Amino acid sequence: MTAPTPLIAGNWKMNGLAASLDEARAVAAGLGGLGDARVAICPPATLIDRLRQAIGGGPVLLGGQDCRAEASGAFTGDLSAEMLADAGASLVILGHSERRAGHGETDALVAAKVGAALRAGLEPIVCVGETLEQRQAGEALAVVTGQVRGSLPPELAGRRFAVAYEPVWAIGTGLTPTTAEIEEMHAAVRATLREMFGAAGETAPILYGGSVKPSNAAEILHAAEVGGALVGGASLKAADFLGIIQGL
Ligand code: PGA
Repeated sequence: MTAPTPLIAGNWKMNGLAASLDEARAVAAGLGGLGDARVAICPPATLIDRLRQAIGGGPVLLGGQDCRAEASGAFTGDLSAEMLADAGASLVILGHSERRAGHGETDALVAAKVGAALRAGLEPIVCVGETLEQRQAGEALAVVTGQVRGSLPPELAGRRFAVAYEPVWAIGTGLTPTTAEIEEMHAAVRATLREMFGAAGETAPILYGGSVKPSNAAEILHAAEVGGALVGGASLKAADFLGIIQGL
């Protein structure tokens, strides 16, 4: 049984212009002593190729934030997994709650996108997480494990992937679950991965996401079954992102 390799990924969301390349350069220059941990930046797709030129081949991996399930075709404005890979991405975030809520993405659609990512050679980071109403109703564990079952297709067996637990109410709010709540959810996600994939379900890191910042990173990253973080707002500034990475 191989322990998961930690992953810290920055999700720039719809932020980032040419001027942001310097932040990415500063992240790449500031990394050191990572051990086997991996660090990724997922910029807007418009910056992937420029980031590859600026820091490609270095310690920072690049990722996309979404892809279409189809490989090509008449889908104006959309991007395929192959295009992201061609631009320089090696990972892709899929099923983020902002896409589930804002673009009506279902578990089945997310699973189809995961399949497309794998076919293009991209490592998916599949996001799951409950709303505040669902947590208050005592449904958080059932909702999240249901999303894991529905969003992760069987083709993931034996492939490299990560799951990101991101409670919707913790994203961009400054609120975080308690360490005990994070550990309870991550244990439930791990048990579900084991049920679905057997021993292969042990090796995928389960990231925590939602208001991770330098001041809470170490505690969160050392919680049981937390295999890294998906970081939004605090990944936009190199100093903050590096501060989080130091929490490993
Ligand atoms: P946040 O976002 O760190 O700004 O809360 C996390 C995410 O949405 O991935």
